[in-house]
Amino acid sequence: MTWDTYYRGTGEPHDTELPDPPPWRAFPRRSAPRTFQPPKGLTDAVNAAVFLHRPLLITGAAGSGKSTVIEQVADELQLGPVLRWHITSRSTLSDALYRYDALGHIHTLRLAQSSGTPKAGHGDEIAAFLQLGPLGTALLPDSARPRALLIDEIDKSDLDLPSDLLDVLERGAYEIPELVRHSNPRVPVRRWRGDGEDKETELEPYEVQDGRVQCRRFPFIVMTSNGEREFPAPFLRRCIRYDMPPLSVELLHSVVEAHVQQSLPPHAAELVKVFVDRVARGETLAVDQLLNTVKLVIDEQGPAGEQRDRLIGYLLRNLSGA
Ligand SMILES: Nc1ncnc2c1ncn2[C@@H]1O[C@H](COP(=O)(O)OP(=O)(O)O)[C@@H](O)[C@H]1O
Ligand SMILES: [Mg+2]
Repeated sequence: MTWDTYYRGTGEPHDTELPDPPPWRAFPRRSAPRTFQPPKGLTDAVNAAVFLHRPLLITGAAGSGKSTVIEQVADELQLGPVLRWHITSRSTLSDALYRYDALGHIHTLRLAQSSGTPKAGHGDEIAAFLQLGPLGTALLPDSARPRALLIDEIDKSDLDLPSDLLDVLERGAYEIPELVRHSNPRVPVRRWRGDGEDKETELEPYEVQDGRVQCRRFPFIVMTSNGEREFPAPFLRRCIRYDMPPLSVELLHSVVEAHVQQSLPPHAAELVKVFVDRVARGETLAVDQLLNTVKLVIDEQGPAGEQRDRLIGYLLRNLSGA
């Protein structure tokens, strides 16, 4: 069987078996903790952050493995499911701590009042309209081990966010003003789900006391940045910083072998060298692109000959200026 048995572009429906995913595209994702190969110096940076209870700020090009580091650390140190906070220009610190659906709450109260439900306005139902965010959940004091929190692409944030975040991380505490003056001093609040936590199973809510949460052990935090902007000095001073180095042929070779789960035939090993060469000459290429390409050239069901060369060209296109 070859590649050409999938889509043919004829518009004729035909029976064909679809390909199995490459190991790194199988869901739920499980392979990353085992396949990640730390570049030189990364383990020291991680251990410094663990030892000093400081966040780790990892800077590097897209696809250099920044977001994957935490999966391996959390797995090795048994920190439980990784909590993820993906930053965009619209991200706010308060959303990462908790969300309160005020409108939903008011609407429900009105409905209850108009239908004459006796419990309306009692005050306990606020719990249904509160949800902790990834940061709020990471700071809860009730887990035996520190939680792992990924603050991904922090350089995409609004300008003030790093400083606001710093304040919360220095105190390891936050307030939920809606609960501070609430009639019930203990309100159970839903947690944020970590990676792979089943949507069907109910997580035990955390009982917030007097609207305040104070962490006991600082979470293990990785912040990533593509280096699109500078951060204020007080912020940098409180982080452990690590820059992803350019990948060597040796490291990349083992990264690829770990992903494809076999030793590389010579034509694939050659692609690794070509990749490193092109990066050294200033092109922007990401590891994912190399993985895609190698998977195609080593798979029996993949394309061959001229078709294959053409695809290599497509897949290994320069990401900058293209
Ligand atoms: N050192 C490495 N070891 C193993 N896989 C890597 C490494 N660097 C990158 N990868 C792979 O490259 C892909 C992109 O990594 P990712 O963490 O998303 O990059 P980034 O967050 O820097 O953009 C992932 O599939 C990851 O497994
Ligand atoms: Mg990333």
